[in-house]
Amino acid sequence: MRRPLAAAALAAVLAALPPAVAAQGDAKRGEYLAAIGGCLACHTDAAPGARPYAGGRALATPFGTFYGPNITPHPKAGIGAWSEADFVRAMRLGLRPDGAHYYPAFPYPSYTKLTDADLRDLWAFLRTLPPSERPNRPHELKFPYGYRFPLAGWKWLFFKPGAFVAPAGLSEPAKRGAYLVQGPGHCGECHTPRNVLGGPRQDRYLAGGKGPEGKNVPNLTPTRLKKWSDADLAEYLRTAMTPDGDVAAEAMAEVVRNATSKLTEADMAAVIAYLRSLPPLESEKAR
Ligand code: HEC
Ligand code: HEC
Repeated sequence: MRRPLAAAALAAVLAALPPAVAAQGDAKRGEYLAAIGGCLACHTDAAPGARPYAGGRALATPFGTFYGPNITPHPKAGIGAWSEADFVRAMRLGLRPDGAHYYPAFPYPSYTKLTDADLRDLWAFLRTLPPSERPNRPHELKFPYGYRFPLAGWKWLFFKPGAFVAPAGLSEPAKRGAYLVQGPGHCGECHTPRNVLGGPRQDRYLAGGKGPEGKNVPNLTPTRLKKWSDADLAEYLRTAMTPDGDVAAEAMAEVVRNATSKLTEADMAAVIAYLRSLPPLESEKAR
């Protein structure tokens, strides 16, 4: 009689476990995070009518051309055979399921800051995409960047894995804004200048300089943005129109189209509050 009783006890324990253990992420929230994370742009071919998230987008960098991979749930061509843990490891640690390192052209140095809940929601959203059998195109990198093992050294020098910790002394909206800007929004990937090894210069965080394509990217600290009102900034991040009636250059116009134009009112205000809270840094002379 002991065994059935033990089984019944076990069943009772399992039924009483908190739902978090079995919980699925919320795909709707994940869709919002994918939008503000700009995943679409790098993971969709630029050709008209290309299948979203099926990969193929060319990303030109000083190291060569990267091609965003297929992240639809196709078991062979995409990431359909991955577990949620594989996804979390890729985003948090920049590691492939086989343990190889990802290039930081995939902005995991920012995405590492996503909370566990947000990663879970993103994963749930990616699982809802229609699988595409489009094969991945190999990156075309200059020598010696084609090798992945030196990335271990790059990561050791420049990569700080771990979920977001709010900077001290910020208002609640600015804290949320810091999360959005540093994490999913990955604004620093373009707006923070890099050293010769391609490492972000944290002392110049968001102070502008040479962006990933080698072109100049503006300073987002108050030194430059103080002449924009909150309304100007919100208008720019929604429509890509500057206060002078210019349209943002394509690299930023794409960020606006895919990502910042999708921010909720509250999140837009949060992003602006955080940019206002940054230490003002002088812009470097254009090189
Ligand atoms: C700036 C471009 C860029 C953005 C934005 C971007 N990715 Fe990527 N992603 C890449 C590149 C390039 C790779 C391949 C890196 C490599 O081969 O080392 C990659 C790889 C991946 C992989 C691993 C795929 C595989 O087959 O190994 C996943 C998963 C992924 N990205 C998810 C995302 C998600 C989710 C987002 C949005 C939150 C996102 N990416 C945003 C460029 C980007
Ligand atoms: C893919 C690279 C890239 C990313 C990511 C990016 N930006 Fe930009 N951003 C640019 C470029 C390039 C410009 C300059 C556009 C121009 O010259 O018209 C720019 C311009 C801007 C400007 C106008 C500044 C000025 O003085 O003209 C603001 C504001 C801005 N970005 C905010 C953001 C925020 C906030 C984020 C994150 C949510 C972000 N950007 C992410 C590349 C990027």
